[in-house]
Amino acid sequence: MDRKPKLIKSDIAHESSVYHVTGEARYIDDLLVNERLLHGRVVYSKIAHGKIVACNIEKAKQLPGVRAVLTHNDIPGNNQMGPVFHDELVLAKDKVTFVGQAVVIIAAESEEIAIEAERQIKIKYNELPPILSISDAIKKGRLIQPSRKIETGNVKKAFAKCDHCMEGELEVGGQEQWYLETQIALVVPGEGKELLVHSSTQHPSETQALIAEVMGLPKMEVEVQVRRMGGAFGGKETQANHVAIWACLLSKATSCPVKIRLFRDDDQKMTGKRHRFLMKYKAGFDNNGQINGIEVVQHTDAGAATDLTMAILERAMMHADNAYFIPNIRIIGKAWFTNLPSNTAFRGFGGPQGMACIEQIIDRIARKLKKDPIEIRKINYYQEGKRAYTPYGQKVENNRLEPLLKILLKSSAYKKRRIAINSFNANNEFFKKGMAITPVKFGISFTTSFLNQAGALVHIYKDGTVLVNHGGTEMGQGLHTKIIQIAAMELGIDLAKVKVNATTTAKVPNTSATAASAGTDLNGMAVKNAMDKLKKRIGKRLCDKFNEQYGKRGKPSKYFDIRFENNTVYDVANPKRKLAFADAVLDAYFNQVSLSATGYYKTPGIYFDRQQGKGKPYYYFSFGMAVTEILLDTLTGHFTNVRTDILHDAGDSINKRMDIGQVEGGYIQGMGWCTTEELKWDKNGNLLNHSPDTYKIPSIQDIPKDFRVNLLKGYPNSEKTIRRSKAVAEPPLMLAFSCWLAIKDAISAVCNHKLEPLYSLPATNETILLSIDDLKKRNSS
Ligand code: MTE
Ligand code: MOS
Repeated sequence: MDRKPKLIKSDIAHESSVYHVTGEARYIDDLLVNERLLHGRVVYSKIAHGKIVACNIEKAKQLPGVRAVLTHNDIPGNNQMGPVFHDELVLAKDKVTFVGQAVVIIAAESEEIAIEAERQIKIKYNELPPILSISDAIKKGRLIQPSRKIETGNVKKAFAKCDHCMEGELEVGGQEQWYLETQIALVVPGEGKELLVHSSTQHPSETQALIAEVMGLPKMEVEVQVRRMGGAFGGKETQANHVAIWACLLSKATSCPVKIRLFRDDDQKMTGKRHRFLMKYKAGFDNNGQINGIEVVQHTDAGAATDLTMAILERAMMHADNAYFIPNIRIIGKAWFTNLPSNTAFRGFGGPQGMACIEQIIDRIARKLKKDPIEIRKINYYQEGKRAYTPYGQKVENNRLEPLLKILLKSSAYKKRRIAINSFNANNEFFKKGMAITPVKFGISFTTSFLNQAGALVHIYKDGTVLVNHGGTEMGQGLHTKIIQIAAMELGIDLAKVKVNATTTAKVPNTSATAASAGTDLNGMAVKNAMDKLKKRIGKRLCDKFNEQYGKRGKPSKYFDIRFENNTVYDVANPKRKLAFADAVLDAYFNQVSLSATGYYKTPGIYFDRQQGKGKPYYYFSFGMAVTEILLDTLTGHFTNVRTDILHDAGDSINKRMDIGQVEGGYIQGMGWCTTEELKWDKNGNLLNHSPDTYKIPSIQDIPKDFRVNLLKGYPNSEKTIRRSKAVAEPPLMLAFSCWLAIKDAISAVCNHKLEPLYSLPATNETILLSIDDLKKRNSS
């Protein structure tokens, strides 16, 4: 089947879409190995905290078909897999710190035998009391790393001058990534020390680095490959490393290929999630609702190891302002140790948690002053001039809040619908409607500045087809599709002539994770850089050829006049001098011109000083806005998303279809986090909802009945970005605050907006009913 349309259009389908549908797309579990393939299994702790007093693996070892049973004693290199801070063991040594921590790993000839072997393993523990909540960790003083601070102005003075001061707490829940493909790796040992690792990882270079460290190997012996992931959402930024490392250990011990694929329930129990937060805040504002000062302490649950916690906390702190200028602000970030799996990246990377608090504050101010929250948002939005600076000192440039608000208010008929909702609520006792409009401002770049770099390796073959290697990974977001478009546009050739190779550390080394929404920004630029080199070489050769061929007729050709367009290479100054792209390539080859080039890019001009809490950490900001209307059944707590209108800023979109898909998916995923996805543990630290029957992610019924998603037109990103586009991936998740606050609005209507409802995130049926109950009680007393 011809899977690629011929024309360069900005809305082509995902490069793998046909493969996704026909089942041809190869995921790691589909790869055929040989009959020597062994199946790995991880035996993990069933208690949250305790000393290991005995670990008997002898019986398991004797079982026919069992090929290896390994403990921490069998690690050739370093027993460490913490990606940033080395505080995470590959296999537990003398104690365990959470339910789900790996203690023993098994390789067997079948999955069934491995499961039987696990039953034969007896681990005895001396149980110790676990820390299972942020409040308990605070009580016991168990900070996992030193606290952080970002501060501007003078909060104390600001509070003294305000008409109103408000204090509060907001609990913000975690979230399971729920990638469809669970964590998986397949290791094929090569000759000597070589390991070829197929890993479902967002970060092949780090997977490679940690494998090398644990195996005691130089990195050159370890190749990590990723064709595609079956979803990742941040959950495979660091924690895909774990299964890859365990599979390598088993492969080394048996000299056989080994695959580890976690069962869904095990995956949910063992791996980290979005960080839950406890926000404690104080806000000062005037009679109009303009905020003068905010003090917020962000407490987060790191889990039993640091993982990416400090970077996530940093982003939460840097998004405590969302779209609002706050002249005086003090943001304190504290990450706490708990006896739970180490929490990790999830779309938004702390941003959503940081923003939830300010959105709650804005909503509370509005309810206190009896105004529509939209009025409070408007007067606090970032503006030009003095009101353009973030708490960390970066200027908010190319602010898109004004056009977004103007267009969206009109297209969603906000005012008219607000009146209709009020009259609906006046006429209905048990059903209430609510509506909210919320903005998103999200910083694009890794806040650890040096990570903002990318590489590429581009080959042009003699037939004029192009193979692009770059450091980014495909997880469904459409990165490879955009890269194909960028490469084809740069060379002026058909999309069908370009292919993106599986990502591998053997082609592009020392890469950063595909994360922070910056996949296209960074890798697209690196690919362009390689293309520029190739075009220069081919162009120079063509000038020589043209000048030889046409001699003194006309002006001599200059290489900077050479254009690559419509599958042709030509001289703009002498347009008759031209050659088909494939012929130009062949000509270059015969004239000994290299047709392979590396590309490199680093984001210019960004930096952040952690000590000072100041800098310009982001290359630019992405913006978006959403209006959601919901219908609430106040007797059951069930809500229906009646209508959502979104206007999102993607700059000059490289692929509108893909970007709209990301916006829709982000919003729905955010809705899940804000409403139904609630993590529950028992008093011993066991996750209670570790499968889809109890952990409720959004399904088709949860999609807004009327869903109108548009991209902001006519606002390109700066000229220095790839095709003037913007990152899209993460920011739309936070548009779901419009749904979260629409529900609060409906609850508030139960007592005719006289009292402010108690509220937290997620707003589950239970939270909603308790809130209504509490309102009614307060209303009657
Ligand atoms: N979209 C799909 N379909 N699957 C995913 O796993 N991950 C999200 C987002 N969109 C994800 C997704 C996350 S967390 C990030 S950071 C970005 O994609 C990463 O890709 P990008 O930088 O190329 O946009
Ligand atoms: Mo995304 S949370 O940056 O992988």
